[in-house]
Amino acid sequence: QHCFTKSPDGFLYCEDTKVQDIMEKVEKRPFYLYSKPQITRNVEAYKEALEGLKNSIIGYAIKANNNLKILQHLRKLGCGAVLVSGNELKLALHAGFDPTKGRTIYTVLSPVGLLSPDSVESLTGFTKALGRVGDKSPTVDNTGVTGQCIFNGNGKILEDLILAAQEGVFVNVDSEFDLENIVTAAKVAGRKVNVLLRINPDVDPQVHPYVATGNKNSKFGIRNEKLQWFLDAVKAHPNELKLVGAHCHLGSTITKVDIFRDAAVLMVNYIDEIRAQGFEVDYLNIGGGLGIDYYHSGAVLPTPRDLIDTVRELVLSRNLNLVIEPGRSLIANTCCLVNRVTGVKTNGTKNFIVIDGSMAELIRPSLYDAYQHIELVSPTPPHAEVSTFDVVGPVCESADFLGKERELPTPAKGTGLVVHDAGAYCMSMASTYNLKMRPPEYWVEEDGSVTRIRHGETFEDHIRFFEGL
Ligand code: LLP
Repeated sequence: QHCFTKSPDGFLYCEDTKVQDIMEKVEKRPFYLYSKPQITRNVEAYKEALEGLKNSIIGYAIKANNNLKILQHLRKLGCGAVLVSGNELKLALHAGFDPTKGRTIYTVLSPVGLLSPDSVESLTGFTKALGRVGDKSPTVDNTGVTGQCIFNGNGKILEDLILAAQEGVFVNVDSEFDLENIVTAAKVAGRKVNVLLRINPDVDPQVHPYVATGNKNSKFGIRNEKLQWFLDAVKAHPNELKLVGAHCHLGSTITKVDIFRDAAVLMVNYIDEIRAQGFEVDYLNIGGGLGIDYYHSGAVLPTPRDLIDTVRELVLSRNLNLVIEPGRSLIANTCCLVNRVTGVKTNGTKNFIVIDGSMAELIRPSLYDAYQHIELVSPTPPHAEVSTFDVVGPVCESADFLGKERELPTPAKGTGLVVHDAGAYCMSMASTYNLKMRPPEYWVEEDGSVTRIRHGETFEDHIRFFEGL
């Protein structure tokens, strides 16, 4: 069951609500429209796929969509959170994700903001005097998933790492300097940090180069030939670091599960090597990256179950806890960007549908040449002319397009036009370029009511940055 469907009379519905009716009621500007039940169904699909794999973690990648209401909903459904900045961690805490679940909470006056390299040692003395907490693992509910938070990234800064250490977040080690910073953060926070080594397995994800991460020349992770250096470094810091697992993330929009399996085979071999040196590692984190059917072509793409099943035996054979970090496959298909047609024009050999939405609200087509399916929300007259159009916005860039060479009926001014699969990496990558302020977000709830879940940004918001200057 999918949330967006066309009725036989040609109207687009979100669950049981006509999108045209929603357009008449909400602000007259582009807006994002989500289905809350679809978010639930997507999480349930992962949970069902993970049955039989105890202590697994669905770490939702917040970068895909950071709407607070959506985060709260995902947290209630049992997801953990995957973070790439201190602000994403703060937002996760705000949404109620509880990385300290099951741990003794250790309070220490936060030194963040006052920190200079010379002060680290004195702070360390101070926090040690208060004592160190036990290194209890987070509790796991009987559905097998936890609210665990995981901090990722190739350029994590010290302030953010200190917050992560204080909050008991799992941290993925990305480089030599990252490890040094994590050790410093542990000293400042007075807490041992649970770390996973982010290994770059050099498996080709077969995706656009901008979203490939796990190949050997990528800026992310550590190469296997350096593994011993990292193991020695962890051994040298028994009070600051506890190695709990290994992580990899291959890339995004992956549509063949064999790719995940190839990486998992390499990863369990690394885990065997790591365990052979006396480390008790329990977690295999295979990252995110599962693709979705952007083309709406009816092609059969791998499901969460296909993904989990392809690594299940490997995970069980080593008695590991599986961590996955889905973003797109949890949230992309739950949302459309809803636009209005401003007009239709022709230049040279090109026909254009100009809409009010643009690359400012949704940049994926401009940035990655990504295809996102486009359709009108209302039926067109029986013999309406169908032409090939580029669907473009009003922004002053020739890169401002939402779709190229789409066969569409010629729409009247004001017609609703949606860009599908806009739940992931659309609003979270939106900008205010040309002062097209970020759009509002709405969702359709289980009972069919439509609720605003984020205000649209306004001109006044922009002016506020200059107040008092
Ligand atoms: N884990 C890590 C370490 C990641 O870097 C990412 C995404 C994810 C998990 C989630 O991946 P997903 O399941 O969403 O594919 N802006 C691009 C996608 C960038 C993905 C960055 N990393 C796009 O719009 O396609």
